[in-house]
Amino acid sequence: MVHWGIISTANINRRVIPAIRASEQGDLLAVASRDAERAGAYAAHWEIPHAFGSYSSMLDSDLIHAVYISLPNHLHAEWTVKSLEAGKHVLCEKPLALPLEEVDRMIAASEASGLVLAEAFMYRHHPQMKLVGEWVHHGRLGDISLVRGVFNFTIQNRENIRLDPNAGGGSLWDIGVYPVSMAQYVMGGPPERVFGDQWIGDTGVDETFVGQLLYSQNRHAQISSSFRTPFYTLVEILGTEGTLTLNRPFVQLDDERQLIFCPATGEAQILPVPEKELYLGEIEDMNTAILDGKPPYLTLEESRNHVRTVLALYESAQRQMLVELD
Ligand SMILES: NC(=O)c1ccc[n+]([C@@H]2O[C@H](COP(=O)([O-])OP(=O)(O)OC[C@H]3O[C@@H](n4cnc5c(N)ncnc54)[C@H](OP(=O)(O)O)[C@@H]3O)[C@@H](O)[C@H]2O)c1
Repeated sequence: MVHWGIISTANINRRVIPAIRASEQGDLLAVASRDAERAGAYAAHWEIPHAFGSYSSMLDSDLIHAVYISLPNHLHAEWTVKSLEAGKHVLCEKPLALPLEEVDRMIAASEASGLVLAEAFMYRHHPQMKLVGEWVHHGRLGDISLVRGVFNFTIQNRENIRLDPNAGGGSLWDIGVYPVSMAQYVMGGPPERVFGDQWIGDTGVDETFVGQLLYSQNRHAQISSSFRTPFYTLVEILGTEGTLTLNRPFVQLDDERQLIFCPATGEAQILPVPEKELYLGEIEDMNTAILDGKPPYLTLEESRNHVRTVLALYESAQRQMLVELD
């Protein structure tokens, strides 16, 4: 069994805790918080056996083999590297880090320690994405020319870390990375050039971002993210043989999930998608990587390219010009 510990009492843990418990080879043993009282109360609420009043004290403990890092974005690199140096495998929330140098430091720490590091892009592990892979990578959509992806929701609380520029806030870092990663998965790599535009709110982060991603052979992606409309998400993948639409590409809502194929001629088909708890796949994948030595499904090169693309989009929005990826 993989003995898991969670670094922080973040909101998103409520999805990952049941997934660790539902996994056959994982067990949740500990939670760490900056505040001992909060750690204790959290452990009691979630029935977690051990609570630590600092992240370091959990890393010093032999109780756990792997940590799930759900800290604000600007702290991912620091605590991933510390965890790996303390001998713990790491599942780190998206995006892996903000500057590329930090991503490289995380990858180097994983290589030096021989321990597993993976980005927690849960949607990539859902059965829906296995189907998408079959359609787009086995030619069933023909030649793909365009991926369009949107992810929006409204932020009510102005204290939310997503609005803090010093914590890696911004709609592109938070939810725009989903359509960016979807486009990268479908196109088989990062874009060659990007153009971005953003609407910056009063806290100094992009509350809306719109991006054009340009690939070789006249292929394109259009992505957008916003904190300023009600919840909305959609992905469309357009090929010469038809269009594949995902109405719930990045969220659970199984009973509303539809994968629709509209062929070039003929009637639209709704493709059945097996139901699976959205966060279970990333935990099962980590457990297998740790116990059996199988490389994680989402590679660190892919995660690094997510960050490269986002950085290029922000640079483009700032300079109002097309930016080539290095
Ligand atoms: N995969 C997904 O579906 C998904 C969904 C939402 C968010 N996320 C990602 O998960 C991460 C956390 O997001 P969240 O919305 O769950 O965060 P959150 O509720 O705001 O919690 C962040 C936690 O980090 C700890 N922390 C340490 N230093 C902090 C600081 N300076 N400011 C604020 N908190 C600090 C706090 O825990 P303690 O005080 O207990 O230490 C806090 O509870 C982000 O990277 C986000 O991108 C992923």
